[in-house]
Amino acid sequence: MEVVIVPDAKAGGELIAEAMAKLLGRKPDAVLGVATGSTPLPVYEALTAKVRSGAVDVSRARIAQLDEYVGLPAAHPESYRSVLRREVLEPLGIGMDAFLGPDGEAADVRAACEAYDRALAAAGGVDLQLLGIGTDGHIGFNEPCSSLASRTRIKTLTEQTRVDNARFFDGDVEQVPHHVITQGIGTILEARHLVLLATGEGKADAVAATVEGPVAAVCPASALQLHPHATVVVDEAAASKL
Ligand code: GLP
Repeated sequence: MEVVIVPDAKAGGELIAEAMAKLLGRKPDAVLGVATGSTPLPVYEALTAKVRSGAVDVSRARIAQLDEYVGLPAAHPESYRSVLRREVLEPLGIGMDAFLGPDGEAADVRAACEAYDRALAAAGGVDLQLLGIGTDGHIGFNEPCSSLASRTRIKTLTEQTRVDNARFFDGDVEQVPHHVITQGIGTILEARHLVLLATGEGKADAVAATVEGPVAAVCPASALQLHPHATVVVDEAAASKL
């Protein structure tokens, strides 16, 4: 695992966008796995600037979703499909035909999870997976004690994660769904390059457990230690407990 400490979130975004640009330069139809949350936004902004300046061509790129709420209509502004369309696909000028994601509205959620794992495999796998991290060390929506070998499946959110995400639902935790579909940790580990971005002091404990703690399901992100090509990009505040 390589750990890169950057001065601030903007520098982290620039660094990761550059890695994505290099990947697309050598593999124009690469599959970029993207994450939601506030942390990755500087990455998307930096990549958008590169696309608009003509430095990167994303016309053949494909975008893959990490996780999704169960039961929120796809058109709901806070479904992760909507969020990614707004924050990633539209700014980059990528159409939904190049988007891979699980069906959070499926009547048979288990079948939808299996179908998504198959779709990722059929697309040739994820080339670069961008990850954020929860304050409790979760990646995607793999909460603590998720199996490190897990596949895409339905999970129940912890109260802490629902409270953390209430800010996207008018601050009302009651509106945050209880269930989600998430790529499993085993699924995530199949990406060719994992890039985790963490910024701010609130992530310092989770980053320390990820990088310096034992590989343990209690900190799902510690599974990155098992990956042959994992990069953890942290600002100084998030690195403060390393
Ligand atoms: C959610 C998402 C994760 C994300 C996490 C942290 O739980 N499912 O993919 O990493 O939030 O979000 P933020 O970056 O806003 O702190």
